[in-house]
Amino acid sequence: MCGIVAYMGPKAVESVLLVGLTRLEYRGYDSAGIAVLNRGEIQTRKEQGKIKDLENLLQAHPVEGNIGIGHTRWATHGEPNRKNAHPHIDNSRKIAVVHNGIIENHYELRRELIKEGYVFHSETDTEVIAHLLADKLKQHPQIEDAFYQTILKIQGRYSIVFLYDGAPHRVFFARDGSPLIYGHASGESFLASDIPAIVPLASHYYTIHNGEWGWITESGEMQLFNSKNTAISPKLERIDIEVNQVEKNGYDHFMLKEIYEQPDVMRRIIQTRLNGSDGKVLFPEKAADNQFLGSLSRIFITSAGTSWHAGLVGKMYLEHLAKITTEVDLASEFRYRNPIAGGDTKVIAVSQSGETADTLASIYQAKSKFIRVLSFVNNANSAIARESDAYVDLMAGVEIGVASTKAYTAELLNLLLYALFLSGIKWVIGKTERQKICDEIRLLPSLMEETLRKSEVIKQWAQNFKETKDFIFLGRALDYPTALEGALKLKEISYIHASGYAGGEFKHGPIALVTSDVPVVCIAVQSEIYEKMLSNIEEVKARGGKIIALYTEGDKTVPKLADYSLPMPKASPLLYPILNSIPLQLLAYHVAVARNCEPDQPRNLAKSVTVE
Ligand code: M6R
Repeated sequence: MCGIVAYMGPKAVESVLLVGLTRLEYRGYDSAGIAVLNRGEIQTRKEQGKIKDLENLLQAHPVEGNIGIGHTRWATHGEPNRKNAHPHIDNSRKIAVVHNGIIENHYELRRELIKEGYVFHSETDTEVIAHLLADKLKQHPQIEDAFYQTILKIQGRYSIVFLYDGAPHRVFFARDGSPLIYGHASGESFLASDIPAIVPLASHYYTIHNGEWGWITESGEMQLFNSKNTAISPKLERIDIEVNQVEKNGYDHFMLKEIYEQPDVMRRIIQTRLNGSDGKVLFPEKAADNQFLGSLSRIFITSAGTSWHAGLVGKMYLEHLAKITTEVDLASEFRYRNPIAGGDTKVIAVSQSGETADTLASIYQAKSKFIRVLSFVNNANSAIARESDAYVDLMAGVEIGVASTKAYTAELLNLLLYALFLSGIKWVIGKTERQKICDEIRLLPSLMEETLRKSEVIKQWAQNFKETKDFIFLGRALDYPTALEGALKLKEISYIHASGYAGGEFKHGPIALVTSDVPVVCIAVQSEIYEKMLSNIEEVKARGGKIIALYTEGDKTVPKLADYSLPMPKASPLLYPILNSIPLQLLAYHVAVARNCEPDQPRNLAKSVTVE
């Protein structure tokens, strides 16, 4: 939540910052601003709204210079308006600060600073940093000393970046909790919340760790210190993200591009994890934390939102294939329920971003009980990957759309393969059966492509749901989490109220909602619960409800009962949670577009939720 970018180098800072902020817009988009240091003077431009609005402001009131910082905001303290937009400056206009995270002791600091005569102009917690720094400069005239003293005084989770007109050849930073990276190119330095912001300009990067602080220079250098104020040497890594991974490449939205990338994501995972014909599943990452797996008898999966839905499917995979008792917790609840665990227990944390504060907190909770943690993350440099004993790389590639699509199906496939991997270790499934499942999994990319070719049908349906107020999604067994995920996807990007239910539960209350105005999406593909889903469809129909159904091609019954029906290719039931997600993602996307909603940046949301 919130995106930060900073630049020092020969290029015009305004355009570097705007490109960087646009790439970080998925982190927050309620207001944005930049500060530029030029000829000893700090100039700021801030605007409520999206980066486009800031760009319009800069067209009318340009800034010049080669050193600057920028910020795109997801409001925590204070309304999203121009006054609360970052950067925030001190009263003498010598310091400009951007910040991501929360300063937990900001009330106390604000009170002390007001007593000292500092005047606040915003409701943000960030502004205390600017005034505190100015105050520390009175006793510590070297800015680095003043900054270190400031860091000692503030509490919370943050990444901070600031300009100081008394040090015009440096941009300062500190991290404790919220992500921040340093980017390097010959004669240029960058800071950013995420690598896509500096692609393709920077060639190398370093992930700044919690407690580290320092400054960058215009010659492309970084000076780094740890929390004890000792200088450390960063080890840079090559950036291997191509620019086409962070651009729309002709698609109208990132979400649509990412939906269409799914077959290739599946291919990548399959090639890495199933590269032999012997039914062996590989988790080559040190990652898979292969110790003690023989005695593993209990798993807790913790995650949030879409990743929680992946966890619900993961539980069924792990119990069915590896026969390991698995519980799934919302990460935000796990820490409050004091779970009982012994040495035979593992926590699996699932997170696309690897930065979700709730999931991170659940990992700390697990570690406090000495439970080993394996995370499934799409970002190997993330806090969740670092705090876990080991991690599995989801291999979904950069996901920019706020609504998670390809990362979700990557979570599902990796969890399925991990369950299969454990089934081998625990001797639950024989080699021949494992080989059969592997062969079925190898068909997944082409089955996905076949499903994606039906997008146009769903686009036409979407026109009929522009005015719909409520949707219901029903699924059973492996498709119950798919129903929950279909409902979440629709509500987060189209703002239509939607609820997912287990088909069997429907008659215990929610069926009261059925009217001809409430479409009911029924996932009724061929599996052991097919007959039961037919009963659900009949029950809805008997009450005048409208049915949108997914069914297996060749089935003659469901299309006769449903008002809208989409045939899904024949596949192993284990693959249906992955395959069935695609039409539901497309439904959410096309309905959102038909309603003139912005699917990549739904209101009130941000992609990585770094506050609890
Ligand atoms: O990055 P994570 O997977 O940990 O994120 C968890 C949720 O915040 C996320 O899945 C959220 O629900 C998305 N907006 C879903 O599309």
